[in-house]
Amino acid sequence: MPTACRSAVVKFGGSAITVKSEPLTVNWEALDSLSEQASRYVASGGRLVVVHGGGSFGHYMVEKLRAERGGLGPLEVAEVQRSMATLSLAVVSSLVGRGVPAVVHPPHTFCAGETCDYSPVRRDLDAGLVPVTYGDGVLAGGRAIIISGDRLAAQIASFVGADCLVYASDVPGVLGPDGRPLRSVRPGDPIAELGVRGSDVTGGMRYKLREAASSTSRLVRIVHWRDVLRALQGEEVGTQVLP
Ligand code: IPE
Repeated sequence: MPTACRSAVVKFGGSAITVKSEPLTVNWEALDSLSEQASRYVASGGRLVVVHGGGSFGHYMVEKLRAERGGLGPLEVAEVQRSMATLSLAVVSSLVGRGVPAVVHPPHTFCAGETCDYSPVRRDLDAGLVPVTYGDGVLAGGRAIIISGDRLAAQIASFVGADCLVYASDVPGVLGPDGRPLRSVRPGDPIAELGVRGSDVTGGMRYKLREAASSTSRLVRIVHWRDVLRALQGEEVGTQVLP
């Protein structure tokens, strides 16, 4: 009998909720499916925090501004934050439209550089809300730091004591060197080297595995976006990340 997750952090990967090859384009099919799955999970009594990635909003914006202006200062950070705030509105609209009480926590309000205080997220979670936050650009000492949603998700999962941490992606899990999905993986294991479609400024699958494995959640999985609810219900879908 699979053990369902009583509380979870789900990362909506940018590869899932945006069209990575099309700048500033939401993949509504994937986003609405994820929101529907989140809605069923919450309706069944699950406690949930959502973290989302940047995809063709944040990653695209960072790369474009770096190329055009040679670096990211205050104005560029503001532009990155605007693009991520736009995507976060799409995410909460989709969630609220399905009856999920989702509220946005922009990272720059609780992160000083890479050091984040997750108390506001926990306060809203305890109040019965579904906090939503995301990878973002923040200004520290006049320069931009890009905070990865993968890291935020792992740290929030530990901070709120979530028993499950699920990363939703556009692939069926972590692929092994032969190109087939692995049932489980540890951060140092050999995996397929995937070419990145679109931009990625925060470090790909190996980085994700390191962050994912660092959380204290009892169950960490990387799954296709269609399989998030099954993962939350305790089914063995996608790839389990072991510490
Ligand atoms: C990236 O967040 C945020 C920015 C580039 C501003 P993530 O690194 O979590 O995004 P995805 O999920 O890989 O797209």
